[in-house]
Amino acid sequence: MDEGERGAAARVDYAALRRVCASLTEGEDDAVALMATLACELHHSDDRFDWTGFYRVVAPGLLKIGPYQGGHGCLVIPFERGVCGAAARTGEVQLVPDVEAFPGHIACAASTRSEIVLPVFDASGATIAVLDIDSDRPDAFDADDARELAALLADTFTR
Ligand code: SME
Repeated sequence: MDEGERGAAARVDYAALRRVCASLTEGEDDAVALMATLACELHHSDDRFDWTGFYRVVAPGLLKIGPYQGGHGCLVIPFERGVCGAAARTGEVQLVPDVEAFPGHIACAASTRSEIVLPVFDASGATIAVLDIDSDRPDAFDADDARELAALLADTFTR
């Protein structure tokens, strides 16, 4: 079946998503509650998103899984490893069109083909987590996704 027969695939409307997340999280400052809400809303907003979740900075140089949607994810990632570790270590968005070409990629699912990982900063500018979105589609993410996702994270975690 092509997309037409299956019905138009869902593609996230980032402006609407930001409004919904702002409304759902108004007045909340608990980071885990905020992450759980964003993981849920993001995951169900776009057919490209096959795993959506956070890894939290729990100690210097160490990430531990946080709220997520999708199949099970690995529990602990040191900053030296994986796409998540690279985002946490550098403080920069990791836009990975082909995970098999990324040195040290950690495959939580054999079906993952591309990935985007963003650092999550708090109001002081400290990295408190990373947001990881995996897709079973190759080259699923672009600079627009990076810009819009960074804006959603800033809305939520730096207020
Ligand atoms: N792919 C990530 C690991 C997290 S699982 O994909 C949920 C990485 O390479 O850091």
